[in-house]
Amino acid sequence: KPKVNSCQMASPQSPVILTQDELKKIAAYKAVEFVESGMVLGLGTGSTACHAVARIGELLQQGKLKNIVGIPTSKKTHEQAVSVGIPLSDLDNYPVLDLAIDGADEVDPYLNLVKGRGGSLLREKMVEGACKKFVVIVDETKLVKHLGGSGLAMPVEIVPFCWKFTLERLRMMFVDAGCVAKLRRFSENGEPFVTDNGNYIIDLYFEKDIGDLKVASDEILRLAGVVEHGMFLDMATTLIVAGELGVTVKNK
Ligand code: 5RP
Repeated sequence: KPKVNSCQMASPQSPVILTQDELKKIAAYKAVEFVESGMVLGLGTGSTACHAVARIGELLQQGKLKNIVGIPTSKKTHEQAVSVGIPLSDLDNYPVLDLAIDGADEVDPYLNLVKGRGGSLLREKMVEGACKKFVVIVDETKLVKHLGGSGLAMPVEIVPFCWKFTLERLRMMFVDAGCVAKLRRFSENGEPFVTDNGNYIIDLYFEKDIGDLKVASDEILRLAGVVEHGMFLDMATTLIVAGELGVTVKNK
């Protein structure tokens, strides 16, 4: 595979195969172009968002950005932001943010998202729901026609209390969609994965379309024991997609 820098793109004349991580970095750098000095920023979580956090840190160090305040969406991002020198605060001090940048696991044509396969969906939803602008950064593998249709997990954060009961209620809720519900566990020791908020995650897998997303969302949230789910409906304002043939920016 030829060595490329993050600005090179493939074209029919010069095919260059970029890795998924290189595409994530390209999308992240493009998103950071939206950042201006003095902004309060939501800092996303995951392998794509971490490129954006690193880039913001770099621009601060170079003096090209000033007076940034970051609001991290996870303990991991908090650690990374500290390590690259981004001053941090929280939603209590900054209830309205200028801009958030984060990745996603699935994006549909209406900019609805599935997030949380990295386990940070609750803080992400709180922070990103408080932003004037929410820029989603993905490589092209994340684009789907319908949320939940990729065969990958739709995460739901639940309280640990009687988690088997909640898992079963969630599975039954989507029985017509052929739902399989699994408690997320660490692969190394089989222990339940615990979120930054001390909760568990149930991953839902669907064989069939789950139908109206808003109805599904409301129904999941009505179930006692559920804290939040990974569908981010009508929240993203801009989508940046990096693919083999270039970067596209789509505004809602
Ligand atoms: C974490 C998330 C991530 O944004 C999502 O999982 C995408 O991750 P990555 O950028 O590593 O593909 O929602 O909870």
